[in-house]
Amino acid sequence: MESLCSFLLFSLNIAVLCMGEDQFVYSGFTGTKLILDGAATVTPDGLLELTNETANMKGHAINPIPFHFRKILNSVVQSFSVAFVFGIVSLHPDLSAHGMAFLVAPSKNFSTALPSQYLGLFNPQNNGKIKNHIFAIELDTNLNKEFHDINNNHVGIDVNGLQSVQSHDAGYYDKDGMFQNLTLASREIMQVWIDYDMQYTRINVTMAPIKMRKPTRPLITTTYNLSQVLTDPAYIGFSAATSPINSRHYVLGWSFGLNSPAPAIDTSKLPKLPRLGPNPRSKILEII
Ligand SMILES: *[C@@H]1O[C@H](CO)[C@@H](O)[C@H](O)[C@H]1NC(C)=O
Ligand SMILES: *[C@@H]1O[C@H](CO)[C@@H](O)[C@H](O)[C@H]1NC(C)=O
Ligand SMILES: *[C@@H]1O[C@H](CO)[C@@H](O)[C@H](O)[C@H]1NC(C)=O
Ligand SMILES: *[C@@H]1O[C@H](CO)[C@@H](O)[C@H](O)[C@H]1NC(C)=O
Ligand SMILES: *[C@@H]1O[C@H](CO)[C@@H](O)[C@H](O)[C@H]1NC(C)=O
Repeated sequence: MESLCSFLLFSLNIAVLCMGEDQFVYSGFTGTKLILDGAATVTPDGLLELTNETANMKGHAINPIPFHFRKILNSVVQSFSVAFVFGIVSLHPDLSAHGMAFLVAPSKNFSTALPSQYLGLFNPQNNGKIKNHIFAIELDTNLNKEFHDINNNHVGIDVNGLQSVQSHDAGYYDKDGMFQNLTLASREIMQVWIDYDMQYTRINVTMAPIKMRKPTRPLITTTYNLSQVLTDPAYIGFSAATSPINSRHYVLGWSFGLNSPAPAIDTSKLPKLPRLGPNPRSKILEII
């Protein structure tokens, strides 16, 4: 499988879907068969646009085939890895809404989820309930006190609700172990890695600017037994939401591996973020 993937990546200078039994890599989304709803669309350039400039919208992109996270019924959830490249385009880095998330969920139907602070994942009735069986990594650009958010620029591990199990300012630890912050809604392209280890039930979340290799020290690390959360099979995908303030949430590339590392995303083949309108400062001045 690996050699076939390499061959496809080598020979096609377009978005490539390389589907093994339990892994895939998308470098751009042209021609993919993701299940899209709400504002989500794949642009002619191959960008997965989860939300556009419409306020109070949600958008989802779900891989059409769910995965068997357990080898056999009732056995434990296996190790898995996710990598994705994203960009958030907003008028101003301090005024973006609302955020986006990678998700693992029992269903591809999010019709009852709300936009805004619910990120298209939950609603006031089901938020925090065990029966959701949802695991998500949120990239949250708003501070919502009701969910104990730490600030308006954080990454969080969410289990069944929006009050994160663990969260951290967006950023990364450099090779000297120093924390470097990143602004999520900066129009800068960044990569996120999510790694789950079945033996230690450890979840690591790491992020970095696109040009950088995966940092050795994760941004967030926690133990949470996902065998007690995930259904089998379960869908994987993305959700994003806007509020009265609107932002465009984009995914440029995505890979997944069950019981294997997520294949590397070929960052040289990714579509480009759109250059929208005037630069943030002049737009803000214009509003003033
Ligand atoms: C945003 O998406 C919605 C839903 O697909 C669509 O109705 C609307 O026209 C889009 N807005 C823009 C500015 O593209
Ligand atoms: C999604 O769920 C809603 C509410 O449970 C239901 O009314 C709707 O028919 C479902 N849509 C699909 C496509 O299954
Ligand atoms: C984050 O970055 C901003 C802008 O570069 C800087 O002012 C701030 O001190 C940084 N915060 C941390 C915790 O590194
Ligand atoms: C998570 O990070 C820790 C600390 O760097 C590392 O020892 C561990 O192997 C990582 N686990 C996974 C599943 O990546
Ligand atoms: C995780 O939960 C499953 C199901 O309850 C259990 O069988 C397993 O032993 C747990 N793993 C750890 C490391 O606690």
